[in-house]
Amino acid sequence: MLPDVLTREAIEAGLSARLIGRRVHHFVTLDSTNDFLAKLAEEGAPEGTLVSADEQTAGRGRLDRSWLAPAGSCLLFSLLFRPAFLAPAQAQRLTMTCSLAAAEAIEAETGLEVGLKWPNDLLVGGRKLGGILTELATQGTALDYVIVGIGLNVNVDFRAGGDPALADSATSVAQEMGRPFPRLPLFLAVLRRIDERYLALQEGDSLHGEWAARLVTLGQPVQVTTAEGQYTGRAVGVDEDGALLLRLPDGATVRILAGDVTLRR
Ligand code: BTN
Repeated sequence: MLPDVLTREAIEAGLSARLIGRRVHHFVTLDSTNDFLAKLAEEGAPEGTLVSADEQTAGRGRLDRSWLAPAGSCLLFSLLFRPAFLAPAQAQRLTMTCSLAAAEAIEAETGLEVGLKWPNDLLVGGRKLGGILTELATQGTALDYVIVGIGLNVNVDFRAGGDPALADSATSVAQEMGRPFPRLPLFLAVLRRIDERYLALQEGDSLHGEWAARLVTLGQPVQVTTAEGQYTGRAVGVDEDGALLLRLPDGATVRILAGDVTLRR
């Protein structure tokens, strides 16, 4: 394989005249692309600013977990949105947009079949290929900005790491394809698709149906862990804002906006 090097120049050249990537910051090492982009956002960085890194020393996942990826092996990046057309309660629509777009782009580039696990994990063959951490800032009752941080496993082999739990639950593009995969074309395809999908969202398109159609969670018996506690039931739907509708054993339906789902057999 050719040297798999990401540079600001190469990323910019592949994204000319698009909203996504109108400003690009690429680092060999960074603490967390989400944290760095939050600082830029506070300083007034424009919508579409992209921060990416070959390695993170303090990468963060959802629910206070850390996100680890060997240097130079994966796609680790964050995007800044300033969606004046969305209320804070609708911010999850951006995560839906990005997860759907990433799944579509990876599928188109690799031929792998990519599903989503609510709320926004990317899965191949039931194993996690990527994750999304969305963080938002409000001003009064309005959304100020939203940072969508995405980690995609590209050239990492979880079977070789000696951690059976990870080998069982995580995968990568290289692992699924049986060969290393160049990151730059995959990265550009994902960013371009996010750009297209975000423009459509701004124009009023609903991505809900296509996003929901990719959710492997729907119709399944699940256990959901939230900040408030655990629920067990059947995932019966998702609403326009991305909330999970869970049918409890007593027949009641609860609406869950954030949590972690485990499929029950
Ligand atoms: C998850 O599934 O828990 C979400 C993982 C999100 C990881 C990405 S990597 C780039 C960005 N920067 C971070 O610190 N986290 C996100």
